[in-house]
Amino acid sequence: MIDESRVAGGALSPDGVAADVALAEVRRLRAGDRPTHGGRLFAYVYDPAVPGLDELAAAAHRESAHVNGLDPTAFPSLLAMENALVGAAGRVLGGGPGTTAPDVVGSVTSGGTESLILAVKAARDAHPEIAAPRIVVPSSAHAAFAKAAHYLRVALDVVPVSVDTLRPDPAALAAAIRPETVLVACSAPSYAHGVVDPVAEIAAVAADAGVRCHVDACFGGWTLPYLRRLGEPVPAFDFSVPGVTSISVDLHKYAYAPKGVSVLLHRDAALRAPQYFAYADWPGYTMINPVIASTRSGGPIAAAYATLRHLGDAGYLRLAAVTRDAVAGLADAVRAVDGLRLLAEPESTVVCFTATEGGPDLFVLVDELTARGWHTQPQLSYAGLPASVHLTVTASVAPRVAEFGPDLAAAVEAAHAAGPVRLPAELAALVGALTPEALTPDLVVGLAAGLGLGDGGPGAGDGGGDGPGAGPLPERMALVNTLLDAAPPALRERLLVEFVGLLQRPTWGSED
Ligand SMILES: Cc1ncc(COP(=O)(O)O)c(C=O)c1O
Repeated sequence: MIDESRVAGGALSPDGVAADVALAEVRRLRAGDRPTHGGRLFAYVYDPAVPGLDELAAAAHRESAHVNGLDPTAFPSLLAMENALVGAAGRVLGGGPGTTAPDVVGSVTSGGTESLILAVKAARDAHPEIAAPRIVVPSSAHAAFAKAAHYLRVALDVVPVSVDTLRPDPAALAAAIRPETVLVACSAPSYAHGVVDPVAEIAAVAADAGVRCHVDACFGGWTLPYLRRLGEPVPAFDFSVPGVTSISVDLHKYAYAPKGVSVLLHRDAALRAPQYFAYADWPGYTMINPVIASTRSGGPIAAAYATLRHLGDAGYLRLAAVTRDAVAGLADAVRAVDGLRLLAEPESTVVCFTATEGGPDLFVLVDELTARGWHTQPQLSYAGLPASVHLTVTASVAPRVAEFGPDLAAAVEAAHAAGPVRLPAELAALVGALTPEALTPDLVVGLAAGLGLGDGGPGAGDGGGDGPGAGPLPERMALVNTLLDAAPPALRERLLVEFVGLLQRPTWGSED
């Protein structure tokens, strides 16, 4: 629980507090978070449960936290570690000396979203002659492509995936390519369902059209190669595939590095060149940035470097085997419960299930699982795909798998007993009639109050410097998820922006 008395004055204390007091405050705040370790959180965190790894990463982070990646000549340690991370990622993904992609180069970014934005930027800026550039992505591609398109003013052409295979048809992607298209993207695997797109076919249609092809392996780029080595039927998705021009892989996901590190690889330096930004037309230092951030901490890079050095190839192979077995166990648990079905047969590290006809209300089920200490991720229905529950599985889940089955069965039973969520009539009517444009601040506050979100919205606690009240989210989220599920995507987006805006409010008052 958040201790309001300690944080009500905001972060800046009048005279400074003792170091142990400051740290205790952080720890108290952290106690209200979902558990990052222990194998019961199936999203957001990637935990290998390797003893000592956290301590090693923290120590490496501390060594380089104040090093600035802005200038690699001042801090050659960082350049060396970045180059070593890029070399490792290049090797894992089919590039480097002795391969068909010997000239692979790359950059270390802060995360998957930054890697994707830069892949789109490089593709866009390679074609200054195209006034209105476009990219083609399957509907299962990560939302960060839409963000990249939005930030970079590139048009987004979305090709639907099959509701059966959850994959795009390469011919449909080919048909979506226009003269202004600068990039075709695909996933290995998709985040939502964990399925690997037909990369070879997609790269071939992109190459035929003379267009770059980016493989978003942010999520699975560090596990799929190891799963293949373990004998799993993983299709080719890396630089061994002709036509693949760039690949992203997040080290803060399945390379188990602390957050803030992804690698964007290009098949050669010429493809990477338009990713850079250089500026010399001002009186200060000449700026040359390979990535979006200019000043950036060496901490995450050093932590990732130490993590890779410590776990090594053999460590990742072992962790992939443990994870694969955990995935199989969780999938069996889903299969064993009446009323649920896998949305896709697991082929990577995701278990994704939905309800069958007459099955439980999935949003109630998610709450019932939370009540039993399992934190899963609900996914709303979308374009013919049913609502589903997503489990990102990491190695730390393995020792918990046997406990999951009985709890899942009990949660399903409880969800049946509770029955489906019914939106109060006035909320249902509102969401049915509402358009994003018609959403007023008063309506937002009313909706938030009806859903138990925040503390009643702007103005509800002003002036006194109070914090977010009794807690920003209701204990049970089924009502919120049901309301969002009933809304079309544009309204979902608008509602979420407004709701999160209500949560992100400064705490003003002074204390101490
Ligand atoms: C396939 C894929 N691409 C991109 C991203 C975005 O990564 P990040 O959250 O590190 O920005 C994710 C995150 O889950 C992902 O799964």
